[in-house]
This record gives sequence, structure tokens and C-alpha cells, in this order.
Amino acid sequence: MTPDAQILTALRSTPAGVSGAELAQRLGISRAAVWARIEELRRTGYDIEASPHLGYRLRAAPDALHADDLLARLGAVKVVGRDIRVFQETTSTNDVMEKLARDGVKEGVAVFAESQTKGRGRLGRKWLSAAGKGLWFSVLLRPKIRPQAATQLTVAAATALARAIHRQTAVQPEIKWPNDILIRGKKVVGILTELSAELDTVKYIILGIGVDVNQTAADFPPDVRRLATSLRLETGQPLDRAELAAAILRELDQDYARICGGQFEALADEWEERCSTIGANVAIHVGSRIVQGRAESLDADGALLLRTQHGHLERIIGGDVTVEK
Ligand code: BTN
Repeated sequence: MTPDAQILTALRSTPAGVSGAELAQRLGISRAAVWARIEELRRTGYDIEASPHLGYRLRAAPDALHADDLLARLGAVKVVGRDIRVFQETTSTNDVMEKLARDGVKEGVAVFAESQTKGRGRLGRKWLSAAGKGLWFSVLLRPKIRPQAATQLTVAAATALARAIHRQTAVQPEIKWPNDILIRGKKVVGILTELSAELDTVKYIILGIGVDVNQTAADFPPDVRRLATSLRLETGQPLDRAELAAAILRELDQDYARICGGQFEALADEWEERCSTIGANVAIHVGSRIVQGRAESLDADGALLLRTQHGHLERIIGGDVTVEK
């Protein structure tokens, strides 16, 4: 952990205040160096009180994403989020991640951007990424799985996101196959999974995740407003984006460990419980084809099993789904 991350961790774990001497000892630096770091944190928007009796006390953090702060809030993780990078603006965090992946960066790195100029959605769609209002980020994974099983990672991401949102807001979101998260029928999260593979092994997977957090209705263009919502609109109050980001990475780290440990089945069960598509009669657009039937379950690779009108089981890995009434 960087010195700033260590300072923020100490300040958060002792809200009553930590003395400069104690911080200096924990970090193995001088008290003057601690003071310099505190000044730097103040310059980036942290409201840190310094009192001769109580030492340093964190009064408030800015509504901005900082890598050190995210690391401090996240705490110990196995893989996901052990390296966090934050950009003020990028084209797409998936683009940044693709370069890192090709450069051989270790799995688990998470790249956040406060805004994206070319945010991408599934099926070549655009993704709106209002500055400072949501969480726009990508996570790099290098699982030792066959390319056919890559869908497992999308299942993990959706399950982790639904759990994190429920924990942070008490709202129970639903998963819409393959990878949307909805609240009261409106989309609040999108996941774009991009894969680089050889014939029988995955080289890397980039999970691109967009969460609409603090937008008001006016932040969505009228055509999007009918279909999308934000956590703020659903809960009636603004959310701490950094806290939510840390919660999501923590849940994703757990679910990734479940996949790597061969426990996909348990994860799929949780996904199915949270998924409103399972058990419904649906029409799925797969390219130019429309497949109709009843969504039954996920298979061992994370693909959807659809019982068609003729009684056959079709295995579907992606598409646009409409629930039929
Ligand atoms: C979808 O529902 O169509 C998927 C949307 C995924 C959006 C996220 S935002 C962070 C990452 N970077 C991108 O360009 N896209 C994903």
C-alpha cells in the first residue's frame, strides 16, 4: 500500500483521531513526512482536522475517486482490486485495460475513469458516462479456463454487483440475462465482457462495468430516461461512489475466487435466484435470429438454457432478451 493509502486506512479505522507520532511509526517515515502527506491529501479535497490532543481526524472525503482511497477502503483482497488506477478522462476504460493487458500487467488491476469520451456498450452501442456521476471501470482477469467458459465471469460480475448494491442501498436489484442489472424494470448497471483467447485457453478477460450512481433524471437524455435509472433516483439520496466501488470490488474478488476454486455451480445458483429472466417466456435476438422459449437455467459454462416451443433445449451465450407477457 502507498503511504497515502496507509494514512487513509489508519484515519478510517480510528475515527477519534490518530497522532502524528503513531502514523509516523506505522508508516516508517518521519512526522514531518506524515505532515507533508496530510497536506497533499488536503489539497486533493480530504478534510483532515489536526488537533494537538486528538491528532489527525478524517472529517470528510471528496466526491471523487482516488486510487489510494479506494485501496484503503477496500482492505485486503486476493486478486480483484489489488492494483487500482484512476483517470480523470479516458476514451473507454476497456481501451486502457486492453493496453495494460497486452503489456502483461497482472490480473486483478482495476481502472476507473471519472468520465469516458467513447464509453462502449454491448452490441456496438454507446455508453453514456456522465462525469463524476457514476462508476465507469474495467477489471482485468486471467482465469485458467476454456474460452467457452468465459461467460462464467459475466455471471460472477452480475452476481457480485447485485449483492454489493443490495448491501449498500438495501434495494434488491434484479439481473436480466445476460448481464444487465435493473431496479423496478430500469437498467442501472451494464457489463461489457471482452475476451482475448487462443484456441483452447483464455489469455485475458476484461470486465467493463458501468454503474449509474448519482445521476438525476435531468442527467439522462429523454430517450434513455425511459429505460435507465440511477441508484440516487431509486433510493432518493446520493451515494458515496468510492464506498460503492470498494464494495463491488470486494464482492467480485470473492466471486472470482469461487470460480477459480471450481465453485461455479454455487455462484450460478445465486445468479438464478437473483435473475428475473429465469422461468420467464422470452424472445432472444441472436444476430438476425429470434429464439423463443422458456429460460430454464444456466449450464456449467454460464450459457443460458432455453426450452423452445418444440421442447428442445437451446444453449445461448449472448443476445438481446425480451420477456414475453
Ligand atoms: C452494456 O450494458 O451495454 C454494457 C455497458 C458497459 C459500460 C462500461 S463503462 C466502463 C467500461 N468501459 C466501456 O467503454 N464500457 C464499459
